[in-house]
Amino acid sequence: MNMFQDWPEPIVRVQSLSQSNLKAIPNRYVKPLSQRPNLPSQNHHNKHNPVTAAIPIIDLGGLYTNDITLHAKTLDEISKACKEWGFFQVVNHGMSPQLMNRAKETWREFFHLPMELKNMHANSPKTYEGYGSRLGVEKGAILDWSDYYYLHYRPSSLKDYTKWPSLPLHCREVLEDYCMEMVKLCENLMNILSRNLGLQEDILQNAFGGIEESGGCLRVNYYPKCPQPELTLGLSPHSDPGGLTILLPDEQVAGLQVRGCDDAWITVEPAPHALIVNIGDQIQMLTNSIYKSIEHRVIVSPANERLSLAFFYNPKGNIPIEPLKELVTEDSPALYSSTTYDQYRQSIRTQGPRSKSHIDELRSPR
Ligand code: OGA
Ligand code: NI
Repeated sequence: MNMFQDWPEPIVRVQSLSQSNLKAIPNRYVKPLSQRPNLPSQNHHNKHNPVTAAIPIIDLGGLYTNDITLHAKTLDEISKACKEWGFFQVVNHGMSPQLMNRAKETWREFFHLPMELKNMHANSPKTYEGYGSRLGVEKGAILDWSDYYYLHYRPSSLKDYTKWPSLPLHCREVLEDYCMEMVKLCENLMNILSRNLGLQEDILQNAFGGIEESGGCLRVNYYPKCPQPELTLGLSPHSDPGGLTILLPDEQVAGLQVRGCDDAWITVEPAPHALIVNIGDQIQMLTNSIYKSIEHRVIVSPANERLSLAFFYNPKGNIPIEPLKELVTEDSPALYSSTTYDQYRQSIRTQGPRSKSHIDELRSPR
């Protein structure tokens, strides 16, 4: 499709804007009043302190013991978190802190390379793979205050090392190790989620097209310092389109906010060496909304840049995704009509992040 061969207007790197020491951000990044964040520093002037809730922190160590009571309690915590929050932190998840740190360091080095080198990997809206600065191809859209790098790891037919950064040295090895560990964790979680629904442990994975065909990609988000963080967002409200997301957050700089049940934005404070897990739209559809894909966004900071690694575990692109027949009953009829992940993603890649409007469009008429 020729329409999506290139961006509708010249790409501006947010990092370059940030480094040019502007006092005011360009209008392209100024959000309408209703979408601007209420920054934490302004919050203690509010009568109601909004920091009242926090997403659950789950110790996955409980899954690897012989203590069956603890094992069951851990499964139960995951089940509750998927139903009530759609978002939780995990600790003792099996990934070594050294590898987590190495991955972050490697990407920080990448984003600090000279612009000419990064631009050699510039992406296009055709596949989004590579170094990018916008999501969506609508001309004149209001943009987010971030740059990113996006790459495919799974299925192996989509893995293309020439689309991965060539620098810093050893970057590809680190990435390979990191993504392999992420896939392991996702496969484990898929089995657990399936069992927690009262299903055989491979049902959810099979609905994704099986272990070999499931997709895995990495999006590294780079949020440069921003002189007017109160006017913009690092990432607009969205729910993740895929299956499961595992985020390695920046432990030094908070920024991720999750939409709580009363619609308030809750800032996530990462626990040491924690990973943040969230349910994506495909699992919400497959589970007929038993598990929730929750809206989230990112705010930026005037003082610090922020880096995060989001690993997305997705269904195979061309298989039908619809509520699992085991979960559809007379009392709980199917809430969504069938789609494929490739189709679903295309609307997001055209329009950019839009709260939860993409999944709501698939609600069956009732
Ligand atoms: C994402 C995302 C959050 C963050 O990449 O989809 O929500 O903290 N990232 O960067
Ligand atoms: Ni997200």
